[in-house]
Amino acid sequence: LVWIESPTNPLIKVADIEAIAKICHQVGDIIVAVDNTFLTSYFQRPLDLGADLVCYSLSKYMNGHTDVVMGGITMNCGDLYTRLKFLQNAVGIVPSPFDCYQVNRSLKTLSLRMQKHQQNALEIAKFLESHNFVEKVLHPALESHPHHSIALKQTYGYSGVFSFYIKGSLKHSTAFLKALKVFTLAESLGGYESLAELPSIMTHASVPFEDRKALGITDALIRLSVGLEDSDDLINDLGCALDIAAQVETQDKSN
Ligand SMILES: *Cc1c(COP(=O)(O)O)cnc(C)c1O
Ligand SMILES: *[C@@H]1O[C@H](CO)[C@@H](O)[C@H](O)[C@H]1NC(C)=O
Repeated sequence: LVWIESPTNPLIKVADIEAIAKICHQVGDIIVAVDNTFLTSYFQRPLDLGADLVCYSLSKYMNGHTDVVMGGITMNCGDLYTRLKFLQNAVGIVPSPFDCYQVNRSLKTLSLRMQKHQQNALEIAKFLESHNFVEKVLHPALESHPHHSIALKQTYGYSGVFSFYIKGSLKHSTAFLKALKVFTLAESLGGYESLAELPSIMTHASVPFEDRKALGITDALIRLSVGLEDSDDLINDLGCALDIAAQVETQDKSN
């Protein structure tokens, strides 16, 4: 099995799904699985790119209202389907009817929500890229992103999840996160509400320090899940919080 997540969490690296699937299928009987939670089937269709299995945390964009925990796997192969369906039944991992109802209902607005997530996140990514207290923005739609051309080739758009490096260290990112008023400090993603988090001490705290360092998951890396609010409110919030974080440095220098 080759397991791909694209874009990756939290560094937003993009894998060439078509190329990877081609190599795996040339080499032999290797199943290619793609976690498509970040983009959803609205923005990326891994089965069309040659993947065998696509998995989703339906808890995220597919449901989108932060009130369900559920997952799904899609595939085109009848044999794999039969094997996984047997396992699901045998293991008993069956979602409740109400959760299924919530997700099915939410899917009706998936296209509208994804378009708004995309639009808000793009505006914010451009704002952050031009801000002098931001070191670097990791968003596949920006030409500065190292995998921009792969993203253009294989996706139809971008969701609300991306990351950036603030200038400074842990105390600056902490001051920034504390100062946010519209963004909530939380680990999840893909819901209607905007969330911000610090992967090094939250979602990715269990990754050993040396591995985090090698990957670039530093204390200055902040991950956003941009929601459906008015983009002006979100940009104002981020701008004010960055100004407050920038003052932490000024005070330190004067001491
Ligand atoms: C949240 C998430 C998961 C786990 O899904 P749950 O619904 O929380 O169990 C898996 N993959 C990605 C990319 C996620 O964001
Ligand atoms: C999902 O919603 C559609 C449209 O309302 C309905 O036809 C379908 O039966 C629902 N699916 C499930 C599994 O309930």
